[in-house]
Amino acid sequence: MRILGIETSCDETSAAVVEETGDAATPWAVRSNVVASQVAIHREWGGVVPELASRQHIRDICGVVERALADAGTAWSDLGAVAVTQGPGLVGSLLVGVSFAKAAAAAAGLPLVAVHHLAGHIESLVLQNGELPLPSVVLVVSGGHTNLYLVERPGSYQLLSRTRDDAAGEAYDKVAKLLGLGYPGGPVIDRLAKDGNDRAIALPTTRLTHADRNAPELKGDLDFSFSGLKTAVLRHVLARTGEQPRGANMTRDSDVAQGSNVAQGSNVAQDSNVAEGSNRAQRSLVAQGFSPALPEQEIADIAASFQRVVVTALVERLFDAARRYGAASVGVAGGVSANSRLRADLKTRGEARELPTFLPSLALSTDNAAMIAAAGLRKLRAGHTASFDLNADAALPL
Ligand code: KG4
Ligand code: ZN
Repeated sequence: MRILGIETSCDETSAAVVEETGDAATPWAVRSNVVASQVAIHREWGGVVPELASRQHIRDICGVVERALADAGTAWSDLGAVAVTQGPGLVGSLLVGVSFAKAAAAAAGLPLVAVHHLAGHIESLVLQNGELPLPSVVLVVSGGHTNLYLVERPGSYQLLSRTRDDAAGEAYDKVAKLLGLGYPGGPVIDRLAKDGNDRAIALPTTRLTHADRNAPELKGDLDFSFSGLKTAVLRHVLARTGEQPRGANMTRDSDVAQGSNVAQGSNVAQDSNVAEGSNRAQRSLVAQGFSPALPEQEIADIAASFQRVVVTALVERLFDAARRYGAASVGVAGGVSANSRLRADLKTRGEARELPTFLPSLALSTDNAAMIAAAGLRKLRAGHTASFDLNADAALPL
């Protein structure tokens, strides 16, 4: 069977055709995967502007779907189902994909499958590598999420831990912004860090030991926190450049709204998710894309030092969880899994621990519809279809 996948949760309009192979070990093959990125539109604003994103999805969706079908040599009558990201994400963006998918499925007489965006990221590992040795511990690390999951059976995802504040990708985006490097921050910091000394600047590592009051069901000691690190980079830059926003209380920025790790698109431009009471001076400083007058080498050193702390925290917590849960494999998916240092460190650590480690290809790391199609096939084969009153859900739980 061939399935059409549609993904519009943030600032990428994507459609893909994925086909079942008939081989249980490597169940799916990508026939096409078209991504129309809106990065150029949002870069100007320093982050994703939800209203602009949804309007652009409307302009792009028809052409992107037609192109995905053409690239796959597939007609509507060749399809067995339509899968779409229901959430989490920006609600206006999600609505475009959900409405399109419902209309298309109804018109073509096809079943509709609702997919959780993070299930898509997790299944990108299977789409790329075949079924993972189970149980597997999978880290989903993106602009909106930093979550560890235990996968005991195919299609079952048990949340083990998450970030208490900023997602890792969000920290990349914020640090890039305060270094004047533009949006999105991950790829540019990744590139600059290659020329930097990763020990040049002492930055704090946060190790949580207690349960989160907001999630008492989780033990908490596998949780992540990146807000203090981002603030430390800001303090360092301000100290080096002599810029002092009046009355700055940088630690308050750790109060970035709870929703930031629930709804995707936490890197929204207007800092709308900064909690009340967070420092106005810093907010405007960062929102304006504060551009410090630092030498290029020093910016590279900051990028490398920041990246070392983020990647070390991600890799250590992943392997801690793998040991605790007796994992037969580990995986990392989501936009930040495109990071070159994360990929390299993961490989080294996996070999040292003799634990198979899995990553998606670069094209399947950042948001794309092929992963949504794959997760859709998984759900369809488990007997789950959606009705035509399906609605987008910005904070959909997994
Ligand atoms: O999964 P994704 O495309 O969208 C969300 O679901 O959020 O992830 C986007 C995030 C952004 O924060 C971006 O800065 C980050 O992934 N990212 C990277 C790299 N490429 C993208 N972070 C670090 N290194 C990269 N090479
Ligand atoms: Zn994503």
